[in-house]
Amino acid sequence: MDLELKDKVAVVGGASKGLGRACAEVLAEEGARVVVCSRTQADLDRTAKEIREATGTDVLALAGDLDNHQTIRDLIAAATSRFGRLDILVNNSGGPPLARALGATEEQWATALQRSLLFFARMSREAIPHMKRHGGGRIINILAATVYQPIPNLALSGVTRLGVVAFAKSLADEVGRDGILVGTRRPRRRDRGGTHRGAPRARAPGGVPGLGKVQLHHGHHHAGRRRARALHHLTAGGARPGSEPREQAANRPPAGQRGRSRDGDEAPRPARS
Ligand SMILES: NC(=O)c1ccc[n+]([C@@H]2O[C@H](COP(=O)([O-])OP(=O)(O)OC[C@H]3O[C@@H](n4cnc5c(N)ncnc54)[C@H](OP(=O)(O)O)[C@@H]3O)[C@@H](O)[C@H]2O)c1
Repeated sequence: MDLELKDKVAVVGGASKGLGRACAEVLAEEGARVVVCSRTQADLDRTAKEIREATGTDVLALAGDLDNHQTIRDLIAAATSRFGRLDILVNNSGGPPLARALGATEEQWATALQRSLLFFARMSREAIPHMKRHGGGRIINILAATVYQPIPNLALSGVTRLGVVAFAKSLADEVGRDGILVGTRRPRRRDRGGTHRGAPRARAPGGVPGLGKVQLHHGHHHAGRRRARALHHLTAGGARPGSEPREQAANRPPAGQRGRSRDGDEAPRPARS
């Protein structure tokens, strides 16, 4: 399957290992030029070299701490200055500190807010002007199953990542008309980042290799249709820039007819008679 990623440019955070690395690999295999970031220079350089050698793709590595706003500015600036455009953003970083709701310290709260909430807004804000310039883009936010239910010691993950879900929905409504689609991925424990954790890269229906199923947040689209289109929307850039979101806005049902899907996203449903 041709995902139409040839010569697209993707930025992937937290990319020296795990899910981030798997995303970078898949994007590179599909012909995208990839910019990878994580904190440990040696690990990142090794990953970039291995992806380059395996795929023949141009891979740019920029080491830095994505908790810092300046690293994000530098990352997006380096990507666009090297490749002249930016099409795909995989917002991924390390997890927030482990803590219980009552026991979390001020320091843990501060780290969680930087890493697992503000990070997503900052990456999007820096990247979107470049996406608009070339007619659209795709933003994939890597979250966690804590958005569904609390998990012991992961209170800060749930709090911040639920905030990202709300942010992604608002952002999607704001930038959909510019051809930019925003989706979230909520990996569960079994998702171990493709080949690097010994798991196969499933190409499940509605799934992105190494990412699994992606929940899109553009407009109030029917959940099933939304999932079925996720792979195409988030990776191929195949829809005419701007056309899909306008079509969705036109199809949006009146407010009284909207319902909530099982995972809490708004989805259209027939009005009760
Ligand atoms: N894997 C799963 O099954 C699963 C399940 C639920 C949620 N998640 C979430 O998905 C994300 C990725 O998980 P993973 O399992 O792939 O993690 P991982 O294997 O530990 O990899 C994390 C990557 O992010 C980098 N990183 C960590 N903190 C960073 C920071 N502040 N700035 C820049 N880079 C940073 C790490 O490199 P450096 O340490 O060198 O920076 C590494 O490359 C995490 O947020 C995790 O909470 C994963």
